[in-house]
Amino acid sequence: MRKDYKIFGIKSPFRGWGAIFILVIAFISCRGKRDPGRVYMPDMAYSRAYEAYAQNNLKQDGINYVNYPVDGTIRRGDLFAYTLLNDSNGFKMAAGIKSPLPVLDSNQMMEAQRLYNINCAICHGANMDAQGPLATSGLVGGIANLKLDQYIKEPEGQMFHVVTYGKGNMGSYAAQLDRKQRWMVVQYVKSEQTKGSNSGKDSSNIKTSAKDSSSTAKK
Ligand code: HEC
Repeated sequence: MRKDYKIFGIKSPFRGWGAIFILVIAFISCRGKRDPGRVYMPDMAYSRAYEAYAQNNLKQDGINYVNYPVDGTIRRGDLFAYTLLNDSNGFKMAAGIKSPLPVLDSNQMMEAQRLYNINCAICHGANMDAQGPLATSGLVGGIANLKLDQYIKEPEGQMFHVVTYGKGNMGSYAAQLDRKQRWMVVQYVKSEQTKGSNSGKDSSNIKTSAKDSSSTAKK
């Protein structure tokens, strides 16, 4: 007659020691939820190759490996680096920098407008008259009204300089917009500045345009 084995009082289909062995394995194998327990084939769980941006000790091991691109590396298809420094001298010299872009066609101009509306309109306003939500709510002070004469006259290179490095309460947009996109936005600003109330620059228009600009300035 077959004898029943009991473990902790429960009838077990296994024979005594076998069942205890299985229980022990079961307990060892699941310690914590975050702990993988014993790794059978470590190569599958942990990469043996060096991960590109992860910490490594290669330098200490005497292996010359450069984690980051060499200074001055230019992404394929990108424009040459902008080398003027972020200081008053750099800003002055920026006046002489010309946009490397040709005149944008209407599709590219629409893209430039899109970039302006995403990145700049929140402060400068869609009409560039410093009426963006951050300006009217008073959250950011001193926002430049790009429709003013001094900004209409500002050379494109200096605008690019400001968009690249930021100025006063305006931050740098170098991380959000690549060089080409920054030049596109600058071209868009330049083309829009003279549209609307401040346009007519010839003498016959001076009176009306002066009136228009003062009325927008008061708004
Ligand atoms: C957080 C609000 C804010 C955003 C967003 C912003 N600006 Fe400005 N911008 C300012 C302020 C404030 C000034 C005035 C800086 C000063 O003169 O101290 C300014 C000044 C400027 C000037 C005048 C530069 C000069 O030489 O005085 C230009 C041109 C300009 N911004 C373009 C842009 C463009 C293009 C974008 C989008 C890529 C942008 N701004 C996004 C706040 C902003």
